[in-house]
Formats: sequence, C-alpha cells, structure tokens
Amino acid sequence: MSVAPHVLEVKDLVVDYYAGKTRTRAVNGVDLQLGRGEFLGLVGESGCGKSTLCFAIARLLGDNAQISEGDVLFAGQNLVYLREKQLRHLRWRGYSVVMQSAMNALNPVMTVGAQLTDAMKAHTKISKRDARQRGQAVMQLVGIDPIHLESYPHQLSGGMRQRAMIAMALVFIPDLIIMDEPTSALDVVAQRSLMIQIKELQRELGFAVIFVTHDMSLVARFSDRLAIMYAGEIVELGETRQVFTDPQHPYSRGLLSAFPSIHGEREELKGIPGSPPDLRNPPSGCRFHPRCPSVMKICSTAEPPAYSPRGTDLVRCYLYADQEAEHIQLRSVP
Ligand SMILES: Nc1ncnc2c1ncn2[C@@H]1O[C@H](COP(=O)(O)OP(=O)(O)O)[C@@H](O)[C@H]1O
Ligand SMILES: [Mg+2]
Repeated sequence: MSVAPHVLEVKDLVVDYYAGKTRTRAVNGVDLQLGRGEFLGLVGESGCGKSTLCFAIARLLGDNAQISEGDVLFAGQNLVYLREKQLRHLRWRGYSVVMQSAMNALNPVMTVGAQLTDAMKAHTKISKRDARQRGQAVMQLVGIDPIHLESYPHQLSGGMRQRAMIAMALVFIPDLIIMDEPTSALDVVAQRSLMIQIKELQRELGFAVIFVTHDMSLVARFSDRLAIMYAGEIVELGETRQVFTDPQHPYSRGLLSAFPSIHGEREELKGIPGSPPDLRNPPSGCRFHPRCPSVMKICSTAEPPAYSPRGTDLVRCYLYADQEAEHIQLRSVP
C-alpha cells in the first residue's frame, strides 16, 4: 500500500454559522496540507476562525454550523461526507482533538481512569485489563503518576487535567492530533513545560499536530510551519522560522511586531489601527484592506489569490502579484 504524502488535506473549506437568517462565514476558503509527523502552528487574533476550522476538520461542529464548501481528506476519505457512524471509526484512532478547556471536556463525576477505559472500549475491542494497562502507559507518557487514574477531574490541577486530556487523545496514537489552545488555561511556566512535552511526544510517536494558539511566542520554537489566520482565511503559511524572520503579509508583519520578543508581553498591534471585521458582514476584496498600511486600489474590489513569494507556501496579498508575474515570465524564458 502506498502511503499518502499528506496526513491531511483541506481544500477550499468554507464554514458558516447560522442564527436565523444571519450567516457568519467563519472559515472562508481555507487550503491546507499537513505532512506526516508535521507540527503546524495556527495563530491569529481571537475570533478569526481557528476553532471553527479545527472543529470543521474534526467534524465536531455544532448544529448551527455547516461546512458549506470544500473537502477534508484524511486517511483516504473525505471527512465532509462521512456519516457519524463512519466518523466514530476514525476519531481517537485516526485523529483526536484536545480542546481549550479540559474542565468542559472531562466528565466531572467519573475518575480519569474510568473515562480512559470508556473511551478505549467505545472504539475498540479491548479487555478491561488491557485497557487499564494502556491507561497507565499513556498517563506515564504525559508525565502523570498513574495513581491519578483513580482521581476525579476536580482533584487534579489545571495542568494535570490538560495532560489527562492529552493522554486520552494519545491512547491509540493517532496520525493527527488537533490541539485547540490546549495550554491557554495554564500559567506561562506550565504552558511552556507542557509544550515541550507535547513536542517530545510528537517526535517520539510521530503523529502530526495542528496546534492552535493566539500566542505567537508559544509556537515560535515548536512548530515546523506556521499558518496565520485573519478573518476566516489563512493569509500566510510558511516555514515557522521564515514567517518569523521575514513575514510577507502586512497582517503577519503587524501581528509579529506585537510580539517584540519571545518572552515579551503581548501589546496592541503596532501600526494596525482598527479591529478585525464582523464576519457577518466582512469587507469586500481582501478582508484586511481597511486596516492595511499597504492597501492598493485592487484590494477593495477583488479577493487576492494565493501567491508564494520567497519560498513561502502561501501569501494572500496583491503586493506579490507583480513578483509572481515576473517570476512566471522568467520561468517561461527558454
Ligand atoms: N457556536 C457559534 N455560533 C455562532 N457563531 C460562532 C460560534 N462559534 C464561533 N462563532 C463565530 O465564528 C467566528 C470565529 O470564531 P472562532 O472559530 O471561535 O475563532 P477563534 O477560535 O479564532 O477565536 C467568530 O465571529 C465567532 O463569533
Ligand atoms: Mg478558539
């Protein structure tokens, strides 16, 4: 069997929320390919659609949301068209999700061990004894004393609860783990130590990660590639180091200048007045144009396509249209 080069391929994904007749287009045409074992950071200000994108990929959207267009290819299947029953086969074993708040995701009246065992039994035929052993193994893997299999969620610290969630996500060592701000409830020191541990587990076990955060400094050191989202769209995607040292999209530049150093506190976005648009009624053309310091005439009338200047994977900005044209011309010279 040939192994697909990508563990995940998202094509032109569009996700809408509905409230009565009001439509919020929270994800607007996202394209994304994730390599096997790759660690992708997904960053952007609050409300830009990071969680919606993750939930759509995992097919965990609520009833008021729908995938209106696009494909999510995973393990040779298009998740968009799978029924709940088919999805159940892939969840946990193929991909798993770690949410922002472990307190909401864990059942308060069950011990951590019972929840782990339940999850395993729901997804595979496994004896009680084997489930227990595997539970102990994954707890050790994430650095929690297996004695806490007997604990209830409220008896664990915030950091331990997050670790317990990661243990659950790892129980079948899936190919992909989607982590939506898994450390944001923790203090800075705990965030960093959990991040280091996630990275070690990922290296050791080889799963791919989509790691969502609004904290650029957190992914700077740990992700292979970085995707920057603005108003429901990925505006820039590239190798993390490259995006950090030489961001191409005017929004990326503004976002990065708000993080003066890896340890610095977050500031207002320098040089980017205004705030992100209301996704119920986004601006025409490039969604960033009303705030863009480099805005041009075309920006308000047409949506910029994806360019790939200077080795980036994708930059949605007309600033690079000319370069691209020159580039193509050069290439076509015999
Ligand atoms: N359950 C929901 N119902 C309606 N609108 C939602 C819901 N969740 C998110 N949204 C809207 O979708 C947009 C993107 O939100 P979200 O995906 O949560 O962004 P992020 O995770 O980047 O903060 C926002 O405009 C938000 O108001
Ligand atoms: Mg979110």
